[in-house]
Amino acid sequence: MARVNVLDERKIVEVPDGSLLVELDGKTNLLFACREGVCTTCLVDVVEGKENLEEPGEMESMTLSTLPPSTAKNPRLMCVSRIKGGEVKIKYVH
Ligand code: FES
Repeated sequence: MARVNVLDERKIVEVPDGSLLVELDGKTNLLFACREGVCTTCLVDVVEGKENLEEPGEMESMTLSTLPPSTAKNPRLMCVSRIKGGEVKIKYVH
């Protein structure tokens, strides 16, 4: 199992290795809307373990490229991010 450590909530959510992190919906306070990597509702800053996420796909990369650089150090969209295994620590941006 992989672990998502939601720092804002001091909560760790376990998901199967290889899961899309839309899995966090309903298990955390993170909100989701489009679920396609377009709207940035599910934007987070990956504080640790970014190497445990698969590289962003085309749509996520395009959306992230529209954000101002000050938005987050390691911005990712949880609806379309896939965790390989291990642990990631995230902070909410919104
Ligand atoms: S829910 Fe819209 S980008 Fe993730």
